[in-house]
Amino acid sequence: MKILVIHGPNLDLLGQREIDIYGKFTLEEINEALKKLANELKVSVEAVQLSGEGEICKQIGSARQTYSAVVLNPAAYTHYSVAIRDAVAACQVPVVEVHLSNIYAREEFRHKSVIAPVAAGQISGFGMDSYLLGLRAAVGLVNRKAT
Ligand code: DQA
Repeated sequence: MKILVIHGPNLDLLGQREIDIYGKFTLEEINEALKKLANELKVSVEAVQLSGEGEICKQIGSARQTYSAVVLNPAAYTHYSVAIRDAVAACQVPVVEVHLSNIYAREEFRHKSVIAPVAAGQISGFGMDSYLLGLRAAVGLVNRKAT
């Protein structure tokens, strides 16, 4: 089983960016932790960081050809990208939405996710663990569908 992890815009700046909100760890450290968990779960994980809305739509659009599920942190696009929402709705494999921070405990404009209604589920507020929980959730969904 192959799982695609998509990190949206500005997540390449983790470790330097608003450390009080996002923590000191880097994107590489998240990807390493994901790889370690993937080994334990006997699945494989591929992670990409994409800043452009169109690039994210393209990756989601072709995901089903290679991957069983997607773990997606759409970053700021979460709150307004109808294009990414439509890509998720059309994806045909489960998409788990993840956020490092608790978007409901922050500014009001972050309280709305346009992605959540078409995602398999959402995990928000657990820092790096949001991704690890997201990976577990994605693998669980695929395994349950297969049985
Ligand atoms: C984020 C939350 C978004 O509101 C923000 O724009 C991000 C990161 C998170 O992981 O907490 O870039 O998706």
